[in-house]
Amino acid sequence: MAITYELIKTCKQTGARLGKVHTPHGSFETPMFMPVGTLATVKTMSPEELERMGAQIILSNTYHLWLRPGEDIIEEAGGLHKFMNWNGSILTDSGGFQVFSLSDLRKIEEEGVHFRNHISGEKLFLSPEKAMHIQNSLGPDIMMAFDECPPYPAEHKYMKDSVERTSRWAERCLEAHQRPHDQGLFGIIQGGEYEDLRRQSARDLTSLDFPGYAIGGLSVGEPKDVMNRVLEFTTPLMPDQKPRYLMGVGSPDSLIDGSIRGIDMFDCVLPTRIARNGTLMTSEGRLVVRNAKYARDFRPIDENCDCHTCRNYSRAYIRHLVKANETFGFRLTTYHNLYFLLNLMRQVREAIREDRLGDFREEFFEMYGFNKP
Ligand code: GUN
Ligand code: ZN
Repeated sequence: MAITYELIKTCKQTGARLGKVHTPHGSFETPMFMPVGTLATVKTMSPEELERMGAQIILSNTYHLWLRPGEDIIEEAGGLHKFMNWNGSILTDSGGFQVFSLSDLRKIEEEGVHFRNHISGEKLFLSPEKAMHIQNSLGPDIMMAFDECPPYPAEHKYMKDSVERTSRWAERCLEAHQRPHDQGLFGIIQGGEYEDLRRQSARDLTSLDFPGYAIGGLSVGEPKDVMNRVLEFTTPLMPDQKPRYLMGVGSPDSLIDGSIRGIDMFDCVLPTRIARNGTLMTSEGRLVVRNAKYARDFRPIDENCDCHTCRNYSRAYIRHLVKANETFGFRLTTYHNLYFLLNLMRQVREAIREDRLGDFREEFFEMYGFNKP
């Protein structure tokens, strides 16, 4: 098996899991946040910087790399790790979600999805077999099954048909997968907010014996309490001995609340995207560095952060760079935001180790300025 999961312990206070995932490119500790490198780069960061900030696994996208430069070029380069010079683990999403969120004129059929390229307008088709073929060429450690992620809210009838199609597609993915010895394929549990459908989806997928499972169809506009409720009834349906990945979630509160509900892996464009418009995550909440009040503020972004950005540069300097659209400003803000989330997950793991994640949550939410629910 290409991917194995080692459960180290569960937090006595919350039930959160401390673990380790072993991949052909090393191991990573869980719960873990995966920075997003859609186009074979985590925007503005070098692989050396990612390593220095403590990233152990990054995510990339089948859909984008298929369109450019093309999976054949990446295969010819020796695979995605070599192509981008990243030696840690890589997970690629299957394209299912991106087809639904980025492209126009989708037409879903049993065979796959017809749509138009979001850049050129060209007509394209993606299917379970094609998504597996592309990911086998790209060569990530973890690849994702081709699924449908319906919008929120979706009616029960639509969601049921969709869940059943996603299960049939998952079987076709397993069948088409050519490299199970060195690439782990994860199944994706769908079903929206409906408990019976999450149950059905989890039953279908766990019977197929993937080396890991994701929960999809969340963070699509539903309220936080809906996400937490879905996690509460879905994670107990997932095998204990395999990693559990919550797709597309990356706000600090959701990383903690997801960990408490038994999630091991997370990814989100949030920290990198907001960094590029000058919004920073700090231990005291969000800081919008473009704000005039920081013009003469020579303190670091976060006085409790020991990242490269915070040890060397001031709010006033970063504000100036970001307002002048200077690339270096975006590099500094991106570095800090990613470091902040990776460091948050380190603290979460430490708290699990010491059976005090519930206390940590209270302290963090108080500092960050969330109302305690
Ligand atoms: N990213 C965020 N949510 C999803 C999902 O439901 N499916 C896939 N494939 N990717 C996602
Ligand atoms: Zn910092």
